[in-house]
Amino acid sequence: MQTTEIVNFFSKLIEKELGILYEDHNLYQLQSRLEEVMKALSVPDLPSLYKDAQTNNPRFKKQILIDIATNNETSFFRDPRVFRSLERVMTELIASCEKNGEKLKIWSVASSTGQEPLSIAMLLEGILPGKVLSKGYQIYCTDISERVIERAKNALYSELEVQRGLNDQQLAKYFRKEGEKWRAQSLLTTKLTYEKQNLLEEFRNRESFNMILCRNVLIYQKIEKKKEILSRISKALVPGGYLLLGAGESLIGLSNDFEQEVIDGAVFYRKKR
Ligand SMILES: C[S@@+](CC[C@H](N)C(=O)[O-])C[C@H]1O[C@@H](n2cnc3c(N)ncnc32)[C@H](O)[C@@H]1O
Repeated sequence: MQTTEIVNFFSKLIEKELGILYEDHNLYQLQSRLEEVMKALSVPDLPSLYKDAQTNNPRFKKQILIDIATNNETSFFRDPRVFRSLERVMTELIASCEKNGEKLKIWSVASSTGQEPLSIAMLLEGILPGKVLSKGYQIYCTDISERVIERAKNALYSELEVQRGLNDQQLAKYFRKEGEKWRAQSLLTTKLTYEKQNLLEEFRNRESFNMILCRNVLIYQKIEKKKEILSRISKALVPGGYLLLGAGESLIGLSNDFEQEVIDGAVFYRKKR
């Protein structure tokens, strides 16, 4: 079998499992990722990997393919302008949760290695000393990749990773040095719960969230899948709850469940009441 046919086979498998589309011009990238999979599974060549996948050979671990096929790029306080606007939104949410006697519930649906939910926790810890939130807050974090979930749970970051988005004060206040790395303090990590969730499948968590962050993950999906995911996300939000997408992503043509709100230059979507 030709290499291109094998790469196409895996591209289709990945689309079925994750919804992630590898366009023709990205197939070379998939090929190099398959080489990583071969290395991780100690498979000698691409035809053997193909045969293992086809015959459900126990040597083939689908999760390894999923972990390697996903792009987990992230950073602390990614898109700083959005985080400045988030301060205002969070302050409003804290006030309304306190008024209703509720816990503030946030969900990061593609949390990758944890920088996004930790940034939200740091933001809230910065606001809360001046406010009352009797029931506290919880950040639910999910991703399809077990590899990134394990890393996120460990909350240990390299110098390079902390340099991407954190200033010295944040580092000193919320992290402690462990050898060459930095570990997030329990003040933040106790507010975070991690679980594996494929966005293409029914959501296991039946809670209603005040805010859902779905950033830089829909871009890899086909329009029909984007619509299905957004419909599930809408159901998981309280009326008036906020949806935050990645910079450059929008809901145009994808959902009528939300109203757009521009806050200090950043775009938020609010579930219609
Ligand atoms: C580019 S990262 C974005 C991380 C973070 N939200 C941010 O904006 O910095 C995309 C993440 O989405 C996850 N992902 C991709 N497809 C997914 C799916 N079908 N279900 C759940 N997570 C998925 C990947 O594993 C990856 O960690």
